[in-house]
Amino acid sequence: MKLWGGRFTKETDELVNNFNASISFDKKFYKQDIRGSIAHVTMLGKQGILSAEDTKAIIEGLNDILDDINNGVLEINDKYEDIHSFVEATLIERIGDAGKRLHTGRSRNDQVALDMKLFTRDEITEIDALVKKLLETIETIMEENLDTYMPGFTHLQKAQPITLAHHMGAYFEMFKRDRGRLHDIYERMNYCPLGSGALAGTTYPLNREYSAELLGFYGATLNSMDSVSDRDYLIELMSALSTIMMHLSRFSEEIIIWNSNEYRFVNIDDAYSTGSSIMPQKKNPDIAELVRGKTGRVYGALISLLTTMKGIPLAYNKDMQEDKELSFDAMDTAKGCLALFTGMLETMTFNKENMEASAANGFTNATDAADYLVNHGVPFRDAHGIVGQLVLHCESHNISLDQMTLEDYKAISPVFEEDIYDAISIKTCVDKRETIGAPGRSAMEKVIEANKEYLKN
Ligand code: ARG
Repeated sequence: MKLWGGRFTKETDELVNNFNASISFDKKFYKQDIRGSIAHVTMLGKQGILSAEDTKAIIEGLNDILDDINNGVLEINDKYEDIHSFVEATLIERIGDAGKRLHTGRSRNDQVALDMKLFTRDEITEIDALVKKLLETIETIMEENLDTYMPGFTHLQKAQPITLAHHMGAYFEMFKRDRGRLHDIYERMNYCPLGSGALAGTTYPLNREYSAELLGFYGATLNSMDSVSDRDYLIELMSALSTIMMHLSRFSEEIIIWNSNEYRFVNIDDAYSTGSSIMPQKKNPDIAELVRGKTGRVYGALISLLTTMKGIPLAYNKDMQEDKELSFDAMDTAKGCLALFTGMLETMTFNKENMEASAANGFTNATDAADYLVNHGVPFRDAHGIVGQLVLHCESHNISLDQMTLEDYKAISPVFEEDIYDAISIKTCVDKRETIGAPGRSAMEKVIEANKEYLKN
């Protein structure tokens, strides 16, 4: 059954049907489609556009269809053009003439605009909950690792000592911003397009504010042409998801490095690792690699949608049907990655001794040795040169700064005294960094408190 056979004299070509139909993917939002229809009909009834009797019959019919699909009694039939046609046809089949009044004062253009918004809004809520769960996992690791020293890197070269709490804190900030983006999108998009008709509203006395309210929107959209052709919110979501994936991918990359034989900073739980079919010794970080790998799919959805939208004249054009498949895939991919990544992180263990040993033997305290000299009156540029000589000495003797004798120190600069050892201990190096945002314990404790407060909401 088609919604538009009247003015045609020929059957649609089978290939055209297949090319045109969207039911294979838009059936994903059958719940939202039915919810939107119920709101529309409730509004029509309230406005006296439909009789109370018809309104009741339609709402009951729609609720039954919803239940039957949910319970597997009714299967969505792929021979319909789209989910809208399927629901309407099923309703007419079940309740007769009243069903034919469902689409009064509505077009599939405002209908699909509504369905997509309702669906996206639900997805944003789900994705936000997953990001929050990840943040809670990160916060727990932070709380437990205020004194777990490790090297901080620049250029993937050991730079200065930090703590695991501090390193995790960087990801906390990233994912916190991601939640902010999701929240902003929700706030901006939460206006209802229903009642915009095909493009120019309708001649019926619809109450758009009322249907908007029934559906939990802040209000009705203010331009019917924009309403049916706006997919900005979806582009914004694809962009936010791309950023989430980029963050997950960076984090995955670090875990892959930390899990390597050379680093051994972490152990990925057996439940989150896989083996090799030929090399018995292998335990591979496949989940992290897959998260890193799937990032491209989500970027692809963003670029695809931007490209689809860029040449579309107002208002609705069928190109816009292409907003669905890739963005659905991107949402599913991001949700899957968030859930799996969080599980992997929760069960991962940290080899604290290896991390600390690595912080101790890579001259991560060289800046602090220079600061020591500066505190004793040596100009920083000179101090930098002196510590350079210390490093050269250590490298040629294959030792670290704390293993040098005081005599050797003094041979390079007489300014050094016994207290140099304390000044360059990893603990001192970290704890002296107390400005807010730095890895020192007191600074980190404040951040952890702030994070806790943030997570309460
Ligand atoms: N399947 C269509 C879409 O996803 C629904 C809207 C169809 N509207 C139309 N005028 N053909 O965009």
